[in-house]
Amino acid sequence: MPNSLASATTTSTANLKQQFDVLIIGSGAAGLTLALSLPTTTRVAVLSKSEISEGSTWYAQGGIAAVLDSTDSVESHVADTLAAGGGLCHKDTVEFTVANSKAAIDWLIARGVAFTRNSGGDDYHLTREGGHSQRRIIHSADATGKALHTALNEQVKAAENIELYDHYIAIDLIRQAEAGSRKLRCTGAYVYNRKSDAVETFAAKAVALATGGASKVYLYTSNPDGASGDGIAMAWRAGCRVANMEFNQFHPTCLYHPKAKSFLVTEALRGEGAKLLLPDGSRFMDKFHELGELAPRDVVARAIDHEMKRLGSDCVYLDISHKSEEFITSHFPTIKQNCLNYGIDITREPIPVVPAAHYTCGGVIVDKHGQTDLNNLYAIGETSFTGLHGANRMASNSLLECIVYAQSAAAKITATLADISTPTDAPQWDESQVTNSDEDVVISHNWDELRRFMWDYVGIVRTQKRLERASHRIKLLQKEIHEYYSNYMVGNDLIELRNLATVAELIIRSAIDRKESRGLHYSLDFPELAPIARDTIMVPSNFADQDIIVQA
Ligand code: FAD
Ligand code: SIN
Repeated sequence: MPNSLASATTTSTANLKQQFDVLIIGSGAAGLTLALSLPTTTRVAVLSKSEISEGSTWYAQGGIAAVLDSTDSVESHVADTLAAGGGLCHKDTVEFTVANSKAAIDWLIARGVAFTRNSGGDDYHLTREGGHSQRRIIHSADATGKALHTALNEQVKAAENIELYDHYIAIDLIRQAEAGSRKLRCTGAYVYNRKSDAVETFAAKAVALATGGASKVYLYTSNPDGASGDGIAMAWRAGCRVANMEFNQFHPTCLYHPKAKSFLVTEALRGEGAKLLLPDGSRFMDKFHELGELAPRDVVARAIDHEMKRLGSDCVYLDISHKSEEFITSHFPTIKQNCLNYGIDITREPIPVVPAAHYTCGGVIVDKHGQTDLNNLYAIGETSFTGLHGANRMASNSLLECIVYAQSAAAKITATLADISTPTDAPQWDESQVTNSDEDVVISHNWDELRRFMWDYVGIVRTQKRLERASHRIKLLQKEIHEYYSNYMVGNDLIELRNLATVAELIIRSAIDRKESRGLHYSLDFPELAPIARDTIMVPSNFADQDIIVQA
């Protein structure tokens, strides 16, 4: 069978091109932290489907939420997270993550991340973002992700036990039964080497999905191109459950300019006093929430969406020009410069902004160690569902989750590695019956169509009718993509399109199942909150094959 493992032959050890203790798929905050937290005696491979730095981590602006100030407390950070999460956060997960927040930041500082200091220079500057009752966001001006990634990447490059593979895109996970048992475990992945145009087999005792989110499923997004939900789709195909895929976070303020692609204007601007304005210059957020511009993100994005539709306007405006030029330049140098490139001087005029898809709150169900439903398969960072974010992620809690869970996964992997036997063979990737495609237009057409109907039918405000339409469209698209995948050689765009279609289907099904409005899921047909808060758990048809069930 083409591009299928159903008729796969077995590859002997000699043919297993790459063999490691731990295979980490993804080189963002989660993947690099895991790599650096494993013992230096562990042989680690880190894959990145394009440049090592290309992922959401690099573009993170605002910072990392953590309890660092003596006036702050774990209880307060936990309470804010629970309030933003609309009754769906798992309290024990929130407590676990926040309790480890200071240690996570100390670890990053020890690894050389250059956080911004306060004006006296005696401590770190903490900023504020939506939903936080305190200043608790440690940051590196307005380019926190770049500072974090640069520091961790330097250490990874210097580590002798870690090998980095850029332009290697994982296609699917390998599941095998343990010798003499029916117990399935993950033993590696099939990976497409984009430079050599060949599929390679990576074998490992433990595999971690650190592939980021799926916001590219929407036409307008703050995310880089690779956010196609690959890890969620791979885990789903490998029999793992996923949860809460309907909670897609739309960031309220992305730059609105015909030439600007995916440029976020950080929430920290509002944290430092920026106001949201209608085209006539009037403020409006006070009408929607007592916290005004610092209301949780779902509220702000919906308010902007409402006002834009009411007025028929293309955007609203974000104004920080009342602050001094010196303040703006020192706190927001990246945004100032980038806006200037588009002819907007933020020290003098308001910034045109629109909401865009930003963060995937749902994901692969994991326990406190990032363990998924499949033995030896872990999921960390935005790919995972830990229960931290509930129905709406609070700003700057996601980088924190990446670090805390990567370290927790490292501890479990380290403790179990010695008991896991080295995979000695793997079914071979079968390309005997596929040909090179001469119809790439099908892929680009389907990419565009999928992202547009997701935006139009499964966006900030939903109705059952629009969701049903989307469900119909995705079934047709999936049939087409499946046929294409079965007949043609894989390539980057086809791999991503197949994954996007899978996550789109999971989002639509989850949204249809949720007959209420909660957090990021807002339905005109079900505007009320259901009396009981429940996660939406999707169970794959091959789930029964697994022998463990994790509890997030
Ligand atoms: P990513 O950093 O997205 O990395 C994913 C990695 O997986 C990449 O290396 C990619 O190449 C690789 N990959 C994906 N698929 C495959 C595959 N099939 N094969 C091989 N490799 C693959 N959060 C905060 O907490 N604070 C902020 O200030 C903040 N600002 C943000 C600003 C922007 C513009 C964006 C987009 C997000 C922001 N977020 C912020 C969210 C946060 O940045 C992300 O949730 C977080 O960085 C995700 O990290 P990650 O390691 O899970 O994945
Ligand atoms: C931002 O800087 O506004 C993004 C913060 C986040 O997504 O957590």
